[in-house]
Amino acid sequence: MAEAVVKDAGAAPELAPPQHVAIIMDGNGRWANSRGGSRSDGHRAGTQNLRTVVETFSRHGVGYLTLYAFSTENWRRPGHEVRVLFDLLREVIIREVRDLHDSGVKIRHLGRLDRLSDELQTLVRQSMELTRHNTGITLSVAFDYGGRDEILNAVRGIVADGVPLEDVTHELLERYLHTRDLPDPDLIIRTAGEMRLSNFLLWQSAYAEFYTTDVLWPDFGEHEALAALSAYGQRRRRFGRAPAESRH
Ligand code: FPP
Repeated sequence: MAEAVVKDAGAAPELAPPQHVAIIMDGNGRWANSRGGSRSDGHRAGTQNLRTVVETFSRHGVGYLTLYAFSTENWRRPGHEVRVLFDLLREVIIREVRDLHDSGVKIRHLGRLDRLSDELQTLVRQSMELTRHNTGITLSVAFDYGGRDEILNAVRGIVADGVPLEDVTHELLERYLHTRDLPDPDLIIRTAGEMRLSNFLLWQSAYAEFYTTDVLWPDFGEHEALAALSAYGQRRRRFGRAPAESRH
């Protein structure tokens, strides 16, 4: 016991919980494959854990959670699969938004809305409107989102507004991004063992900690969320600075 105390005395303190966690939900297809199901079954299963994931991160002090549900590149998937993903977004909104609202969750959408059906656009807008005064965790769903698309649009907006060159700063550009009122992600989680950003939050992830797990997205629940938070707590973030204890 005394030894543990001495050891702890020298250990660097754990980081505070991340303010913003962003997740690349991967492995739905593999999850379904391993059970002899269709990819659609995998995507559907990947919506069953959403409430648990939101609740767990919220309970552990995370203020912003962003989920990458459909990328600008996912249009390259077969039409049937694209339709399933769009139907699931609709189902999730109809099934979950009331409860999320009752729990104080604020809902945001990141990405393009113009390629969604009129009905989906209305549902997304209504969810944001309904929850916009909530003060709990902000849940952003990135749907038809691409980091390059977002940056390109920001540049177009700046040019269209005739902003003078000397006024184009980091802060100004950030005001033209979909994430304009969100803090940068502190922790990006990717499931299913992949180690790519896949066009997710390219500008915002500059100093994010990256965490990957072999767990497939439909199996990601409270235990996995806590494991990710615990791994984050052990990281040392320097934002380009030299380590505090180093000699010069
Ligand atoms: C990647 O798995 C997952 C996606 C492209 C879609 C993620 C969507 C959901 C979890 C459901 C919708 C969620 C919301 C919030 C509406 P993959 O299909 O690439 O898996 P694989 O790499 O194993 O094939």
